[in-house]
Amino acid sequence: MTVQPNSIEARDAAYHMHSYTNARTLEAEGPLIIEEGDGIYVTDNSGKRYIEGMSGLWSVAVGFGEDRLAKVANDQMRKLPYYHTFAQRSHTPSAELAEKLIQMAPVPMSKVYFTNSGSEANDTMVKLLWYRSNALGKPEKKKIISRIKGYHGITVASGSLTGLPYNHMSFDLPIPQVMHAGCPHYSAFARDGETEADFVARLARELDDLIQTEGPDTIAGFIGEPVMGAGGVIVPPEGYWKAIQDVLKKYDILLIADEVICGFGRTGQMFGSQTMGIEPDIMVMSKQLSSSYIPFSALMMNDRTYQPIADETARIGTFGHGFTGSGHPVGAAVSLENLKIIEERDLVGNAARLSPLFLERLNRLAEHDLAKEMRGIGLIGALELHPQGDAVGVAGPALVNACMERGLILRPLGDSVAFCPPLIITEDQVNQMFDIVDDAIGTLSF
Ligand SMILES: Cc1ncc(COP(=O)(O)O)c(C=O)c1O
Repeated sequence: MTVQPNSIEARDAAYHMHSYTNARTLEAEGPLIIEEGDGIYVTDNSGKRYIEGMSGLWSVAVGFGEDRLAKVANDQMRKLPYYHTFAQRSHTPSAELAEKLIQMAPVPMSKVYFTNSGSEANDTMVKLLWYRSNALGKPEKKKIISRIKGYHGITVASGSLTGLPYNHMSFDLPIPQVMHAGCPHYSAFARDGETEADFVARLARELDDLIQTEGPDTIAGFIGEPVMGAGGVIVPPEGYWKAIQDVLKKYDILLIADEVICGFGRTGQMFGSQTMGIEPDIMVMSKQLSSSYIPFSALMMNDRTYQPIADETARIGTFGHGFTGSGHPVGAAVSLENLKIIEERDLVGNAARLSPLFLERLNRLAEHDLAKEMRGIGLIGALELHPQGDAVGVAGPALVNACMERGLILRPLGDSVAFCPPLIITEDQVNQMFDIVDDAIGTLSF
């Protein structure tokens, strides 16, 4: 890409440091500027249109350019553009959204706490667990078990929960209170001769051993995505979540479901916890909650989590935690309307109905010589390519680039390519998306 002097690309490269980007490459090549979006499509500033096969960052459930969300945001901005939720203040959108989320919860939940990103929600969750353990007179109960390849964000605490090297390297993470258990990716981590059932039993045994080694009284919680996203779209084997929950129950360890990607329909049910048979104590939500039209996130906790925390706020005199934007009225109003759209248009049903086609097309791609395996559930999936010699992480970006040239945006995750289209996608559009990948993969030569 040649950057024209004074172009928006040049100005961006000159002044804007980007997330998940090689800063030197950006300086030399400039960014791709996306100008507008409509349905499952986005258009760049040269007028080229792409299918957004990743819903942005796994998030734009209702598609781009949804007027109802723009209108609600505009109306709320005019009525009450901002108010906080500190010191016993509230407003109608955040009260209504909290009530709505509790009604939607797949297991009995007690309270919702609002934040502005998935990372903030997970960071808050860690603090809530620590606060609760202190409230219970168990100051040693502070460790949290996460998993290798899990993704939970990038703040100091949530970045520690994340089990991916890039999020730790040169950041001095993880913090010592976080440990990582095994990843439930069968084909990658099973030992020779191990069946799926053996693999699941071993992961549960290793978790039990880890808890025993650390001391059961030192572990406050276990966090996991029902289906791992950024770690490579990893659908756990049958029986995995039951086996994990059996171990956690034995030691009275809270279970936190990170629903930031799975929540609100992605797996073909409203929550990934339902698809995977998880009964969480805490659920963390973002992305499809507002379709990312506005930064917004929430966590929801059950009564056994909430009650000791509430007691501690009474003992201290306040809950010494809160963000200026917690429960922002515009974010809450947009989220409420977004949930209404998801329900009215039965987008969860759409994901469930189109899932067989989506998975069948992924399966067909997996027959290609360059492909190693496919993984998927609902409307989220990945195609993993064979690594090219020792060069891990070359094949995925090569396929993504070939798809970009043909008008489809996907995301490379090492040697895998992730698919996570908006939940409004139609049957024809699913076929169009995979036709492009079919064509693109045929042009790759390593
Ligand atoms: C499962 C999961 N949890 C947490 C996060 C962090 O969310 P955010 O990027 O909004 O901080 C992400 C982001 O991709 C995620 O996929």
